[in-house]
Amino acid sequence: MLRLALPTGRMLKQATPFLEAAGYAPVESLSDTRKLTVPSKCGRVEYLLVKPVDAPLYIEQGVAEAGLCGKDVLMEVDADLLEPLDLGFSKCRMVVAGKPELERKLDNLLSPVRVASKFPRVAQNHFRKKGLPCTVFKLSGSVEIGAVLGLSHYIVDIVETGTTLRENGLVVHEEIAECSARLAVNRAAWYTKLVEIRELVDNLRQAVEGAKP
Ligand code: PRP
Repeated sequence: MLRLALPTGRMLKQATPFLEAAGYAPVESLSDTRKLTVPSKCGRVEYLLVKPVDAPLYIEQGVAEAGLCGKDVLMEVDADLLEPLDLGFSKCRMVVAGKPELERKLDNLLSPVRVASKFPRVAQNHFRKKGLPCTVFKLSGSVEIGAVLGLSHYIVDIVETGTTLRENGLVVHEEIAECSARLAVNRAAWYTKLVEIRELVDNLRQAVEGAKP
């Protein structure tokens, strides 16, 4: 049996039908249960329900052989994992956003640029690459308010529908990356559980192909 780390939260809703299509339906609803481990009906996998930001750690340390992770989280935590499959759902963009009047001023601001983000590492790397010194404030959520109320010039955050930015009077200034759910695999398990992992990758790949319009 393979243990799969599965992030709770917004990805879980889209992950559940996808996993069912791949033949790994859980024995009970993953959104409703308070259990932290739930087996699949087929008995080939056990789901480990964890916070999105913790999923890579469980996989990297081998507690779970594999799991589903958002690319946004993988970029932030930089865990030593294999990433064999883009699952194609939970699509969003990692962006630099801020008030409209700061558009095109990004490179001309007197340094340091102040940035608020749930993804401080991504933010730091992005501005470093541009050669702009920046101070990054790590927030845990409601990041937009940082730029609205002047804590920061900009935010680095994910945008899905754009509604949160729009409703708070902010706009996208730069795109950093396109993100989606990925299959992440523990390096050692890739070799020690080769047969099971290969079967998992094949089944998930078929579900990805089947979901394409
Ligand atoms: C995420 C993200 C944005 C919002 C973007 O927050 O940090 O705030 O979703 O989605 P949208 O473009 O569809 O509006 P989340 O909903 O995870 O809540 P949080 O602020 O509590 O982290």
